[in-house]
Amino acid sequence: MNSSSLQSGAAGQTAARPLGVLAALPQELGDLIAAMQAESGVTTRTLGRRDYHIGTVHGVPCVVTLARVGKVAAAATVSALIHVFDVEAVVFTGVAGGVGPDVHVGDVVVGETLLQHDMNAEPLFPRHEIPLLARSRFDADRALAAALAAACERFIEEEGTALAERFSAALPRFETALPRVHRGLVISGDQFVASAAAVGDLRAALPDALAVEMEGAAIAQVCYEYDVPCAVVRTISDTADEHASTSFSSFLTEIAGTYSTGILRRFLASWTPAQR
Ligand code: ADE
Repeated sequence: MNSSSLQSGAAGQTAARPLGVLAALPQELGDLIAAMQAESGVTTRTLGRRDYHIGTVHGVPCVVTLARVGKVAAAATVSALIHVFDVEAVVFTGVAGGVGPDVHVGDVVVGETLLQHDMNAEPLFPRHEIPLLARSRFDADRALAAALAAACERFIEEEGTALAERFSAALPRFETALPRVHRGLVISGDQFVASAAAVGDLRAALPDALAVEMEGAAIAQVCYEYDVPCAVVRTISDTADEHASTSFSSFLTEIAGTYSTGILRRFLASWTPAQR
């Protein structure tokens, strides 16, 4: 652990700064708050109509919360995590639509880079560029993303076959092959993408995009502005086409929690601040 990750306590002792863990919707957090309750108990602080749950889970001091949906909600929530709760780093977990040609329902995508696909201030600035920041792409923290990807690989290795068997019956669009872990570009916008035409437009504009969701790039922008490391992990609930809303709904209620629980447990159990 490095000295910047430590805070002085009342008696001069030091305590690790917490990790911020958030999702948009409760199903996307899996059992995290229940696991925190069992491990350390939970202190809850309500701010801006959100509950921030403070405690230790799988050995890591965390502040866990729900952002709700969309970029504004995500930016407001991560700002509070940074300014009120002084988090050392931020991890966002949830589901996404698959965009990359080899990205299937049941796969996992770890964002290495994030971009807001609906940002367009042309002709004042190039398409996708965030005005006055001179960039369109925001990098996830490499060590955090690597640790998340390793946790995803272990999760799939240990539970992937059972997951595919269990869920392919419930969800016809769940690939019967073993789920895969992808790393690369995740794109975010304030739209639920649900047509072949719309996802085709995204592929044409951003050929390296792997997954589309509604929060990650906003989190990455705010974390960039405040020099806070962040990472995003997304399970693919749909392929952003005409089947997206039914596939998303079934995945969210039946499967998303199992993924988040399995991935976050392995990630947190392996994570120490010194890994940065
Ligand atoms: N999250 C999950 N699926 C999505 C989609 N198709 N579009 C945007 N966000 C999503």
